[in-house]
Amino acid sequence: MSDRHPTVEAPIPNCPKHVAIIMDGNGRWAQAQGKPRLFGHHAGAKRVKEIVRACPDVGVKYLTIFAFSTENWKRTQSEVSGLMSLFRRYISAEMKGLVKEGVRVRFIGDRVRLDGKLQAMMDDLERRTEHNEKVHLTIAINYGGRDEVARAVKEMACDVASGKLDPTSVDETTLTGYLDTRVLPDPDLVIRTSGEARISNFLLWQSAYSEYEFIDTLWPDFTSDVFRSCVSRFAGRERRFGGVKA
Ligand code: IPE
Ligand code: IPE
Ligand code: MG
Repeated sequence: MSDRHPTVEAPIPNCPKHVAIIMDGNGRWAQAQGKPRLFGHHAGAKRVKEIVRACPDVGVKYLTIFAFSTENWKRTQSEVSGLMSLFRRYISAEMKGLVKEGVRVRFIGDRVRLDGKLQAMMDDLERRTEHNEKVHLTIAINYGGRDEVARAVKEMACDVASGKLDPTSVDETTLTGYLDTRVLPDPDLVIRTSGEARISNFLLWQSAYSEYEFIDTLWPDFTSDVFRSCVSRFAGRERRFGGVKA
C-alpha cells in the first residue's frame, strides 16, 4: 500500500463509550517556550479537532471536554477575555466541519455569565448539529460539578413548589434528570493531562464509577496516539461497580 494511504487504525476492543477529558497544562506548555499563556490555549484548541476526529476510529461515541471551569474566572481579565474570544473563534472556524463530519455538539455549564454573542453562537452550533450522531461532543464552559448540582436542586425545588414534582418520589434518577448532562451516559474514562491528580470540580456526580487516567503530557502535546494509549489501558482494566469478579 502506498504511503499516501495510511491504514485506518481499528477500533479498540472494550473501548469506553464515553471519555471525558480535563484538558490541562496549556499555560505551562506556553511558558516553557517563553510564550504567553494564551499561545498555549490556542495550541490546545487545535488538539481538540484532532481528538474529535480520532473518536470514530478509536471507537469512542461520547467525548466531553472541560474548557472553562466556574473557578477559572479567578484568572487575569486578559486571560479570561482571551479564552472567551478563543471560544467564539473556535465555534465559527469549526462549525462547518463539525456539521459535515456528523458531530453532535452540546454545551454544559451555566451560560448566563457568558457574553450574549458567545451564548448565541453556542445555541446555533447545538441547533445545527442536533441531527448528527457519529460522535457526541460535549464542551463544558463555565462548568462546575457543584454548581451543576446546585442548579439542578434549585430547579427541582421550584418544581416541588409548583406541584410538578412529588418530593417523596425524589431519588438518584430524579436528580440525574435535572443535570446538564441528563441525556449523556456517565463517563467510563476520565483523562486528566499535565500531571495534576485532581478532579477540579469536573463531573462530580457522573464520575462516581469512572476509571481515571492521570498523565503527565501537557494538553497541547496530547496527540491521537496518546489518546489511543489511554483508551487501550482502560480496555485492560476490570470494573466491578462494588460487586465481585464474575
Ligand atoms: C487548561 O490549561 C485550560 C484552562 C483551564 C482554560 P491551564 O490554563 O490550566 O494550564 P496550566 O495548568 O496553567 O499549565
Ligand atoms: C481544570 O483546570 C479546568 C479546565 C481544564 C478547564 P485548572 O487548571 O483550572 O485546575 P486547577 O486550578 O489546577 O485545579
Ligand atoms: Mg491548569
